[in-house]
Amino acid sequence: MPLTNRSHRSTLTQFLIEERRRFPGASGDFNALILDVAIACKAIARAVAFGELGGVMGNQAEGEGGVVNVQGETQKKLDVLSNDVFIRRTEWAGNLAGMASEEMAQPYQIPGQYPRGKYLLVFDPLDGSSNIDVNVSVGSIFSVLRAPQTVMEAGRDVTEADFLQSGSKQVAAGYALYGPTTMLLLTVGDGVNGFTLDPNLGEFMLTHPKIQIPPDTQEFAINASNSRFWEAPVKRYVDECLAGKTGPRGKDFNTRWIASMVAEAHRILMRGGVFMYPRDTKDLTKPGRLRLLYEANPVGMLIEQAGGRASTGEKPMLSVQPTSLHQRIGLVFGSKNEVERIERYHAEPVKTELDNPLFAERSLFRNQ
Ligand code: AHG
Ligand code: MN
Ligand code: MN
Repeated sequence: MPLTNRSHRSTLTQFLIEERRRFPGASGDFNALILDVAIACKAIARAVAFGELGGVMGNQAEGEGGVVNVQGETQKKLDVLSNDVFIRRTEWAGNLAGMASEEMAQPYQIPGQYPRGKYLLVFDPLDGSSNIDVNVSVGSIFSVLRAPQTVMEAGRDVTEADFLQSGSKQVAAGYALYGPTTMLLLTVGDGVNGFTLDPNLGEFMLTHPKIQIPPDTQEFAINASNSRFWEAPVKRYVDECLAGKTGPRGKDFNTRWIASMVAEAHRILMRGGVFMYPRDTKDLTKPGRLRLLYEANPVGMLIEQAGGRASTGEKPMLSVQPTSLHQRIGLVFGSKNEVERIERYHAEPVKTELDNPLFAERSLFRNQ
């Protein structure tokens, strides 16, 4: 096995320490938090890798701490295990004021025996968990926010309201991808860097410095089974892509759909593309499929930090003021020029003949 190119690479620890030198006043709490998150991801990577042999496949049994989460989705054993790993690896160190997760209805309070810190950690412990049983890539997504000053001063418990900060306030965001190799993608607001887990050393090594997303693409990802529920601008965009060389775009497109957003985000960070899980009319109680605080915002920050764009279709994702912890939202992200085009289609009056009057400009299903 070739061991070349290894010794000159930075570890995640070295990378974080070198980044911190740019801020001589920094306490080191942030670095410690990210390193604990990285340990959590390594532990989850191992649990995922054992698959059926680890006794962790299938749904969480009733009476073992969950069955259906706050989203009304059946929890897999690995969803619950991954959530627990995130908590146990990060709660003890005095860096966090509280946490929130897809798998917990309410914010998690740091237990009394541990000191509290200045950051909030928000995460989707296992994204794409419908893919676990079929051995397709899954991942963990995380976002770091500052705890509001009042939490710090009063040393009080965190509330839902403390987490309702726009994505532009994120201090850091990242994901781990449990694919053929385990990778950690991280932004601390100064570009995006990719690390590959060296299985021999058990360390994340910097392998993809300063990732940049190409501004143009010929690849798009959307769950086409929802097409009858799409709003007109999304339908127009997809129709034009599908028309390929013979349509207004004058070029052919490829489609991809993994059903693990984290894996789609990774593909787009590596080679460009566009991902859409737009707001649609499938279930009017759900304005989108994906969750703002622990899916759209962290992925949005990574994508923007890599020169791409993340949007609701109507406005930049990172500008959205959250209204609840588990809020869902329409999400479009990827290569800048394509996302801008989709935003333009949302802003423009609908020109095409609509096959359903309910989608018309001033119809039932349009907000503004
Ligand atoms: P999670 O497993 O955390 O609930 O998220 C799954 C999400 C996302 O990863 C993916 O893009 C989407 O759900 C897939 O949705 P469809 O089943 O509608 O394709
Ligand atoms: Mn998810
Ligand atoms: Mn999940």
